Amino acid sequence: MPKQDNEFTKEDEKKIEEVCERYSHANSLMIYLQQIQAEFRYVPPYAIGYLSEKTNISESHIYGVLTFYSQFSLIPVGENMVKVCHGTACHVGGAKVLGKKLKAHLKLDEETETTEDRLFTVQDVACLGCCALAPAVMVNDKVYGKLDADRAKAIIDTYRKTAEDAG
Ligand code: FES
Repeated sequence: MPKQDNEFTKEDEKKIEEVCERYSHANSLMIYLQQIQAEFRYVPPYAIGYLSEKTNISESHIYGVLTFYSQFSLIPVGENMVKVCHGTACHVGGAKVLGKKLKAHLKLDEETETTEDRLFTVQDVACLGCCALAPAVMVNDKVYGKLDADRAKAIIDTYRKTAEDAG
């Protein structure tokens, strides 16, 4: 069972400090944040205060960086990030219906981005930069184009199967 947000522990705090220590030679806020995001799948509130002290950068500035870049999340995201493109070409190609069916397939409603098992987070994005492939969806770093809902659901199912097979 995945951990809930309120289960952030002293051990997790220690892990953040270790991650930052490991990359302290770079002394870069972005690198600290990227490593924390990779470790926890989000940037926990504790990290903001800790990094502020460590780097002498204000918490509000760190918060600004976190909310500016889409690679960071303030709430835990799923193991697989699914970005459904809603740019013009994809919109015209049926992205709205595709996204809706994909979310329904993952039992997500309008308000919810992450599946209960934390295997998938589905986000709407403006343009993936591959409009010729519209409608397109990106899963982690891989782009899938010229999709319809059934193909998109089948792709998602292969990620689920891979996760299940891995135990
Ligand atoms: S509009 Fe979807 S990839 Fe550009």
